[in-house]
Amino acid sequence: MSLQLNPTAPRPTQETQPLVDRRQTNPMFNDQKMKLGLFGTNCSYGLIMSHAPSTYEVSWQHTREIAQRADALGFEALVPIARWRGFGGTTNFNGNCFETYTWAAGLAEATENIAIFATSHLPTVHPIVAAKAATTIDHISKGRFGLNLVMGWFSPEMDMFHGEQRQHDERYVFGQEWVDLVKKLWGTPGSFDVEGCFFEGKTLEAYPKPYQAPHPVLINAGNSPSGVEFSARNVDINFASLDTVETMREYTKVIRYKAREEYSRSISTMTYGLLVARDTEKEAKQAFQSVIDHGDWDAAGNVMKVAGMESQSFNEQIKQFQERFIAGWAGYPVVGTPEQVVEELGRLNEAGMDGMIMGFVDYNEELKYFGEKVMPLMKQAGLRHD
Ligand SMILES: Cc1cc2nc3c(=O)[nH]c(=O)nc-3n(C[C@H](O)[C@H](O)[C@H](O)COP(=O)(O)O)c2cc1C
Repeated sequence: MSLQLNPTAPRPTQETQPLVDRRQTNPMFNDQKMKLGLFGTNCSYGLIMSHAPSTYEVSWQHTREIAQRADALGFEALVPIARWRGFGGTTNFNGNCFETYTWAAGLAEATENIAIFATSHLPTVHPIVAAKAATTIDHISKGRFGLNLVMGWFSPEMDMFHGEQRQHDERYVFGQEWVDLVKKLWGTPGSFDVEGCFFEGKTLEAYPKPYQAPHPVLINAGNSPSGVEFSARNVDINFASLDTVETMREYTKVIRYKAREEYSRSISTMTYGLLVARDTEKEAKQAFQSVIDHGDWDAAGNVMKVAGMESQSFNEQIKQFQERFIAGWAGYPVVGTPEQVVEELGRLNEAGMDGMIMGFVDYNEELKYFGEKVMPLMKQAGLRHD
């Protein structure tokens, strides 16, 4: 049977084109010098593999309250962790978690200004489904959506989907075809056939197009050579897992240069970590130490074992910074008085980091403190403005 399913031109522009330049809708493109975000508020224990006391819990009410508080403070980003199973130990770290596209859709409706991300393991979702889901959330949020593209390093959870994990660099080859197809679905006003190594299909189409033009903000946290290549070629922001300001300075220079020289595009760079701000340095250090003292070493051991085997970027850090996995998912810890914290954020910014997505021991409670004590000092330091 031959059907004429192709739509008759002209189609309405609200179907065939994104509606608004994303620089007008997405705060990731605003002019704040040091952007702020929250990381991991959809997963149990957030960024800490620890039983340190906290009111944090994974319930819809709680995650929404945190999101709304960050939104009211003017934060730019909410970035969830994509996780399909926990890491065992006494916490079963991150194992109790909300799926991120649906989480983002709910928070898009519940917030006003903040950018909301879904974190997508590319092998777990077909590009047509991802493109459509992203577009829907982009319309709900009126152009505040973003996609964190992750390849899937935690093999036991990838085993849940297809039984066989691709080699590290092959994951990025797959990711390239995946993101090319998603961008094509977002950007093509007609239909097209696809015949790739991983995806094949006839007369693909996707309407409507995303709300923001040319498409939702894309981020990636690849730090290995193939990860950096992928980021430089495809995304708006790279997230780096690095341990010193010096390495950050070098790293941010190299990846920006690569994007510019090899792909004629610009990329920004951000980092992540646990932030602990208290009235005195002693209190801050004690609170940080308490996270380690209450640490779930079994879960941390499992993470490091898999990460060491599977994820090239983490190898060095595993040996040197075991505690960093417990206190901040191996991110860069920022610990001290409000003044010290702002100085440290300034150093990161000066090393090329345009922002930081943070974990807190107790997100909801500590956000209040951050708004009262840290934010005003960031403004004084010229890192933020009203
Ligand atoms: C900020 C940030 C967020 C990440 N989020 C996730 C995630 O939600 N799920 C996941 O499986 N991996 C996540 N990762 C791991 C990265 O996707 C990546 O595998 C890792 O940084 C190693 O880089 P490589 O693939 O270049 O070796 C994240 C990493 C960073 C730095």
